[in-house]
Amino acid sequence: MHIFREASALRAWVRGQKQQGHRVGFVPTMGNLHAGHFSLIEIARRHCDRIVASVFVNPTQFGEGEDFDRYPRTPDADAHGLRDHGCDALFLPEVGEIYPFGAAQGVCVHVPGLSDALEGAARPGHFDGVASVVCRLFNLVQPDLAVFGSKDYQQLLVVRRMASDLGFPLEILGAPIVREANGLAMSSRNQYLDAAQREQAAIIHATLRWMCERVRASDMPLAEIERKASTRLSEAGFLPDYAVLRNADDLSEPNEHVRSGLVALLAARLGPVRLIDNMACDPAV
Ligand code: PAJ
Repeated sequence: MHIFREASALRAWVRGQKQQGHRVGFVPTMGNLHAGHFSLIEIARRHCDRIVASVFVNPTQFGEGEDFDRYPRTPDADAHGLRDHGCDALFLPEVGEIYPFGAAQGVCVHVPGLSDALEGAARPGHFDGVASVVCRLFNLVQPDLAVFGSKDYQQLLVVRRMASDLGFPLEILGAPIVREANGLAMSSRNQYLDAAQREQAAIIHATLRWMCERVRASDMPLAEIERKASTRLSEAGFLPDYAVLRNADDLSEPNEHVRSGLVALLAARLGPVRLIDNMACDPAV
């Protein structure tokens, strides 16, 4: 596996691969990789001949007081894992390579509307940072396809909109959420939880399943499903931020009478960690 720290060298390699007729897939990450990340590599592999992954803890998507400084950085283990999963090239840039004028002075990409609700409301500026860094990475890597996890569902929608609005000539794939045996969605931040909290966190997946099941198999008003889901989380010791049902295509608020095409999304704090998860309520979505 090639490791590139400079965008110019990576670009030259990608250009060479394309000239040989290879289709190049891209998986951007912030590192500290787990089975969820590796599943994206495997999905990209099914559609492409060459796979590039990036590991870059992007400063512009972290707010004041968030965990940018202590975000787990494990580049050696990440490189080994990526190689074992058939990745061909790893892009491991410094901040100056991605933000040549400095992170605070960089051009900012804002996706209106989609960036404001839910995670955007809880973490102001977060999706500007995400859209900006993904835009930069797409320009530097120039992939034919990029894979994003639906674990970060709102992020997937923001990136899709950014790429389509700015006319990036690439395909974006959404990948299923990889979970622990107890249903907890895999996340680099799970390691901030102790063993008891990890068990307790199984209630998040159970709550999403309950919400979707109520949507499909009852006529309970959507607002009541949301309220009960939130209560259920509070009673289990969480500090819920939101537990909502939204239209899956744009996160707009659903019409009470159209109970299809919905996604259940929730965010809740458990001890030191803010966990997010979601589930499509239509079995086929
Ligand atoms: P990071 O949190 O490292 O996640 C990288 C990719 O892995 C994202 O597309 C995310 O949705 C996906 N992912 C994480 N956990 C997953 C799981 N349990 N199952 C499936 N996919 C999972 O998301 C980011 O980094 C950053 O915001 C980034 C897009 C790299 C921009 O900085």
